[in-house]
Amino acid sequence: MIKNFKQIEQTVCDITNKISIESNKNDLQIIKQQVIGRNGILTKAFTELRNLSKETKIDVAKKLNNLRDHFLKKYEEIITKYKNNTLKTKIDTTIPSLSFHGVLHPFSNIIADIKRIMFAMGFNYEEGPSIENEYYNFEALNISSNHSSRDSHDTFYLYHTEQKAKKLLRTHTTSVQIRALESEKNKINGNTSLRIFSIGDVYRRDDDATHAPMFHQFEGLLISQDTSIAELKGYITRFLVSFFEVNYLPIRFRPHYFPFTEPSIEVDIMCYKENDKLKVGKCSNGNWMEILGAGMISRNILDRAGYDNVNGFAFGMGIERLAMLKLGIQNLHDFVGSSYPWIMQYGV
Ligand code: PHE
Repeated sequence: MIKNFKQIEQTVCDITNKISIESNKNDLQIIKQQVIGRNGILTKAFTELRNLSKETKIDVAKKLNNLRDHFLKKYEEIITKYKNNTLKTKIDTTIPSLSFHGVLHPFSNIIADIKRIMFAMGFNYEEGPSIENEYYNFEALNISSNHSSRDSHDTFYLYHTEQKAKKLLRTHTTSVQIRALESEKNKINGNTSLRIFSIGDVYRRDDDATHAPMFHQFEGLLISQDTSIAELKGYITRFLVSFFEVNYLPIRFRPHYFPFTEPSIEVDIMCYKENDKLKVGKCSNGNWMEILGAGMISRNILDRAGYDNVNGFAFGMGIERLAMLKLGIQNLHDFVGSSYPWIMQYGV
């Protein structure tokens, strides 16, 4: 924490400076929460004091107290002005602008982490269109028009007429697999493998605290002569351990069903609650949480795409869920809420 003290000080000062130009009471309340609320920056810093040696503790505590006093003074000043309704008339437009350093949205950091790990494992990045046709999103993946699994996707269709093929907002990034299988067909031979991954927006008719009509998925695909489900498990384990940056992560592989993989599996990781926040890792009172779907690519999909004598596997997962677990974020909708204090808290 000591080495972070400068950062804490900078953040609190930035926030303190910012309150002088705030005019919205609600925002002021959020800012107060951010600094001295239950999970506020300073509140957390104070609880971490107990990890310090006696001498440094006294010194850091003093600095933290000063910071808190400074913040509260400024805050009370503004609140009083606000009450007297003098704030608006007293804005001095000649004051030089604040020196403010922006942060990357937490989602950008999560995507950068995924890319770094996948590139290190030898996978290339591929993108596909968000507006898909039924062939790539469903049919080529063994999901015909009357297939029951289409219900669980609850698709947004864009338009269709008798003459034109239906267009839709893709319900998963698995459509990119088929496109990649088609475009890379002539590039793979006996000694080479195809390794690609894709990241992108996907859409389903779903909306509650843990689902949104638009979310993001990340998907990996490997085709080679001798790949196997053992190798698939190895890649998934390596990815999850690197992503969550834990030394040991309990992972559970369960049989499942997807129309485009055979056999199919679902993968759970162990999570537990600490101070009301969900954390990833081993714990005696941990629970399993489903994190991804995977499997060996169905034979008929490979045949249809013209791949003989090779095997393949694929895995796919929701990026919001990965991000929520890694950063301890509770509400999925915060990612698109554009709240300034939130971005300052979770961005880097
Ligand atoms: N497309 C599946 C989903 O959206 C995930 C998946 C990808 C499963 C690849 C198996 C293989 O739930």
